[in-house]
Amino acid sequence: MASGTSKLSCVSKCLSSTGIGRAILSTLLLSGLCSCLHHYYFIDQPMTWGEARGYCRKKYTDLATVDNMEDMERLIAAAGSGYEGTVWIGLHDKFSWRWSMFENGIPGENNWGFRRWKKGEPNTSRIKQLCVAVQEGVWDDYLCTQALSFVCYNNTNNLPATSSEEYFFINESKTWYSAQAYCRQNYTDLPSVRNLTENGLIQDVVQSGQAAWIGLRRNTWQWWLHGTSSFRYWADGHPLGRTGNCATSVINATHLGKWVENHCTERFHFMCQNNKKQLFHIKLRALTSTANLNDPSVMEAILNQIDAKMKEKGIVRDVRISWIKKPDKDIFHK
Ligand SMILES: *[C@@H]1O[C@H](CO)[C@@H](O)[C@H](O)[C@H]1NC(C)=O
Ligand SMILES: *[C@@H]1O[C@H](CO)[C@@H](O)[C@H](O)[C@H]1NC(C)=O
Ligand SMILES: *[C@@H]1O[C@H](CO)[C@@H](O)[C@H](O)[C@H]1NC(C)=O
Ligand SMILES: *[C@@H]1O[C@H](CO)[C@@H](O)[C@H](O)[C@H]1NC(C)=O
Ligand SMILES: *[C@@H]1O[C@H](CO)[C@@H](O)[C@H](O)[C@H]1NC(C)=O
Ligand SMILES: *[C@@H]1O[C@H](CO)[C@@H](O)[C@H](O)[C@H]1NC(C)=O
Repeated sequence: MASGTSKLSCVSKCLSSTGIGRAILSTLLLSGLCSCLHHYYFIDQPMTWGEARGYCRKKYTDLATVDNMEDMERLIAAAGSGYEGTVWIGLHDKFSWRWSMFENGIPGENNWGFRRWKKGEPNTSRIKQLCVAVQEGVWDDYLCTQALSFVCYNNTNNLPATSSEEYFFINESKTWYSAQAYCRQNYTDLPSVRNLTENGLIQDVVQSGQAAWIGLRRNTWQWWLHGTSSFRYWADGHPLGRTGNCATSVINATHLGKWVENHCTERFHFMCQNNKKQLFHIKLRALTSTANLNDPSVMEAILNQIDAKMKEKGIVRDVRISWIKKPDKDIFHK
C-alpha cells in the first residue's frame, strides 16, 4: 500500500538518523492511524452522493472526512494536478433535530420521537430557521438568533416531568444560545419535551401569546463518518438555503477546494478515504552495544527517541509505537 511504504521509509529514515537503526536488533511494532487516517483516493466516476458513499465503504473506509487545512490540501492534491471539478465529500445535512439536554450529557435520547409542530411547520424551505419555540402549546422553528423568552428545566431526570414545578418561564428576550447558557447556569437546561403531558406542563408556565424557546435545535451539517470534526471550509455565502443536503469540494481556480452544497442526487466525482490500521514490523540490527538493551528503561528510552524523531519530521501523525512483547522472551538477542 502506498501510504504504508512511504510511512515505512519515513520510519526507517527517522531511525537511521537517530543512530538507533544501526545500534540494535529487534522488532518494533508500529501501529497507528497516522496520515493513513486521511489517505484520500480520487474516484473519477460520477455518482450520486449515496452511491459514492456506498462505493467508498465497499472499496475503502468511507467518503472523505476533512479535519483541518492540511487534510484539505491533501484532498486537493489527491485529485491530481490540473484537475478542475467538483467532488463529493462525506459532509451532509440530515435535517435532523437534537435536544439540548442530550448534548448536556443528561441521560435520554438524542431525538425523542415526540413532536408537536404547528400546522405546516417545520418549513423545510427555510434552512436558517433552526431553533424551536413553543407558543400556545404548538411548536415553530425560528432563527436561533431571534430574541425570545424561554423556559428552563430544573431536573436531571431523564423521565418526562409530571409537575410544572420543574419548569421556569424566563420572561427575558434572549437568543436560543443565550437562553441555553442561562438555563445551564441557573437550572439544568432548556427543556426536552418528551410527551403530551410535558408539553402541557410547559405551556402552563409560558405566558399566553408569547413564544418561548425549548431545547430543540436543528442539527445541521455533519460528517457522515465521525460527526466530530468541526472544521468547515465553505465557499463564501455557503451553505445557501435548501439548495442541497450534500457537500462538495469545488476544485478550481476561484474556489480552491472550498465547499458548496448540492442536491445529493446529482452526479459528481468523489473522494474516498482509507483509515485502516496499519502494522509495521521492523528489524533493527545492532553493530555494537554496550547498554543492556533488554533493560525496560533503556527500551523505553529507545521508543521515546524514535517517537520524538518521527514527530520532529512531522511526517507521521497519530502513530503509536510499541515493542512486541512475547512472554518469557527477551526482545533483543545476540
Ligand atoms: C414555507 O415558507 C415559504 C417561504 O416563507 C413559503 O413560501 C411556503 O409556502 C411555506 N410552506 C409551508 C408549507 O408553510
Ligand atoms: C434545581 O434543582 C436542584 C436539585 O434538585 C435544587 O437544589 C435547586 O434548588 C433547584 N433550583 C430551583 C430554582 O428550583
Ligand atoms: C413578561 O414581561 C412583559 C413585559 O416585558 C410583561 O408585560 C408581562 O406581564 C411579563 N409576564 C410575566 C409572566 O411576568
Ligand atoms: C443566571 O441568572 C442570573 C440572574 O438570575 C443572571 O444574571 C445570569 O446572567 C444567569 N446566567 C447566565 C449564563 O445567563
Ligand atoms: C408522560 O410521562 C409521564 C411520566 O412517565 C407519565 O406519567 C404521563 O402519563 C405521560 N403522559 C402521556 C400523555 O403519555
Ligand atoms: C469554480 O466552480 C464554481 C462552482 O461551480 C463556479 O461558479 C466558478 O465559476 C468556477 N471557477 C472557475 C475559474 O472555473
